[in-house]
Amino acid sequence: MAGIATAVTHPLDPLTATEIEEAAAIIRRECAGMERLRFPLLMLEEPPKEEVYRFERGDPISRRARATLLNRADGTAYEAVVSLNERRITSWRSLKGAQPPILMEEFAAVDELVKNDERWRSALRRRGVTDFDMVQVDLWSVGDFPIEGIDPNRRLVRAASYLRHAPTDNGYAKPIENVVAIVDLNENRVLKILDGEVVPLPPESGNYDAASVGELRTDLKPLDIVQPEGPSFSIEGSLLSWQRWSMRVSMHPTDGLVLHQVAYDDGGERRSILYRAALSEMVVPYGDGTDAFHWRNAFDAGEYGMGRNMGSLTLGCDCLGEIRYLDTVVADDDGRPTLCRNVVCIHEEDYSILWKHLDLSTGSSEVRRSRRLVVSCIGTLGNYEYGFYWYFYQDGHMEFEIKLTGVIQTRALPPGTVDDYGTIVSTDLSGVHHQHIFNMRLDFDVDGTANSVVEVDTVALPPGEANPHLNAFGGRETLLETEQQAQRIIDPLKARYWKIINPGRLNRFGRPVAFKLLPEASSLMLASPDSRVARRARFAQRHLWVTPCHADEMHAAGDYPNQSTGEAGLSVWTAQDRDIVDTDVVVWHTFGVSHIVRPEDWPIMPVERVGFQLLPVGFFDRNPSLDVAPPQPACHTGADCAE
Ligand code: CO
Repeated sequence: MAGIATAVTHPLDPLTATEIEEAAAIIRRECAGMERLRFPLLMLEEPPKEEVYRFERGDPISRRARATLLNRADGTAYEAVVSLNERRITSWRSLKGAQPPILMEEFAAVDELVKNDERWRSALRRRGVTDFDMVQVDLWSVGDFPIEGIDPNRRLVRAASYLRHAPTDNGYAKPIENVVAIVDLNENRVLKILDGEVVPLPPESGNYDAASVGELRTDLKPLDIVQPEGPSFSIEGSLLSWQRWSMRVSMHPTDGLVLHQVAYDDGGERRSILYRAALSEMVVPYGDGTDAFHWRNAFDAGEYGMGRNMGSLTLGCDCLGEIRYLDTVVADDDGRPTLCRNVVCIHEEDYSILWKHLDLSTGSSEVRRSRRLVVSCIGTLGNYEYGFYWYFYQDGHMEFEIKLTGVIQTRALPPGTVDDYGTIVSTDLSGVHHQHIFNMRLDFDVDGTANSVVEVDTVALPPGEANPHLNAFGGRETLLETEQQAQRIIDPLKARYWKIINPGRLNRFGRPVAFKLLPEASSLMLASPDSRVARRARFAQRHLWVTPCHADEMHAAGDYPNQSTGEAGLSVWTAQDRDIVDTDVVVWHTFGVSHIVRPEDWPIMPVERVGFQLLPVGFFDRNPSLDVAPPQPACHTGADCAE
């Protein structure tokens, strides 16, 4: 079942291996003069939405690839669009002042460069570390923190070091504190080693593998998930169908998991809900004010590439039951296709009850089991894992959840000291406070492209004629009319949510059909709006943004956050204050976790969850899941408690 599409049958199908090879060959031919040409990004150039909507099975498909290129020889970067039908570059632009994302090869290069640097070696010797091969070197994007004597226009990264006594050790147990390397990636050279105060290595191990933890639990009995007739969904190319739901699933090198054309079949009518939904950016700012740490923050999508860091999943480990996988093909740094097996996991879960009522006068009960469809994948970004899970339910609602796990960032403390910026998790080892702030780009097309967004607050009615007993309350709706007005924050005390409505299509009760975005409670970025990281992540200062749909507005912090100085993406586009009423709107939702580390997060962090829900609100005329069959005949009648 798992397989990789070799034939393109739909305009949104991801690039095949052959198409990646062809696109790279066309670019290499045109860029023959560039000796050290690299391919930080190479992917499908998504066709215009109108073209996709017009497409019918069997129509000719115009295929284009988009590439971000880096010429290491002079540090210049470019963006190219290639027509695969015409076999030529159709668009070319210089990315002056932008730094493409970090390449996979740069991780290995930094490790080698740093370990061979005599200044770094002597800094480590000062700390009693001499077995350099056992040091774990972590690459960090530099952001835009000025580094004395170094031109910020170079292609730079920082590197921090951790000691392992055995190759499989958890290095974060032993941070080699206050040694930071600055590396120029185009020149392949360590420019500087910052060597501060010597802090002894924390004494304890942080290993969590089965062999390290001692005796394991033995009291779990087997739990098998069996679907003897196979799963209830079908996969045809990138098209996934289950129950009334259908969608296209693909992997984007920056955004990770992308869903297109999420629709619900309502009595034979295929009703559109989302045209495209994906992570647009995320940032992990650390709250440690010290010299060796304050610069740490990661824009994991734009700087490192969420899709490029997705892992291969294993049945019985990452996923359990009757699983179907999607393989992906990504372009490597040379523009060559790489096959990644079992990246997207698709399966069904029994999810408790869907609805139930016991009629007390007759004793009869109606209950239905809830089955949900899960589409998921897991990325590893340095020390952290991010699992992305979309859930689809039979009552027409969907949910997006991110599971955060992995190993926390640590700092070694001088023996016996306390830490203002973290939680002590082991002897002389601190887990540093940080946030994970995500932004999802949700291109809603609720029953068509012309949508509006309404904010709904649940509030008490003022005392008076309409509220004589002081108990009345209701939903107060505010139409968000322009981009500036639509920069909103959550308000859990008003149970605030946002409705995406189609004013041109009314339900049976005369109200516009709608889906609502139900946010969870989460803080915004805690770093000051004047801080350097906040300037680069303005999206993290509002939970909601709404823009008119533009194909070149895809990433909340801009397309190239690596080494950006800020004010790109949402803050810039929405300064135009464009009209967002009854038009093709894109909703951008910011949410996240403010992670005051717990001792229980060490040495490996149990999954923490964060996300949001999308629920139909008058999209259907009544509960759309009445036709779900009872799981078995006995479910019709209530059991007698007296028996
Ligand atoms: Co965290």
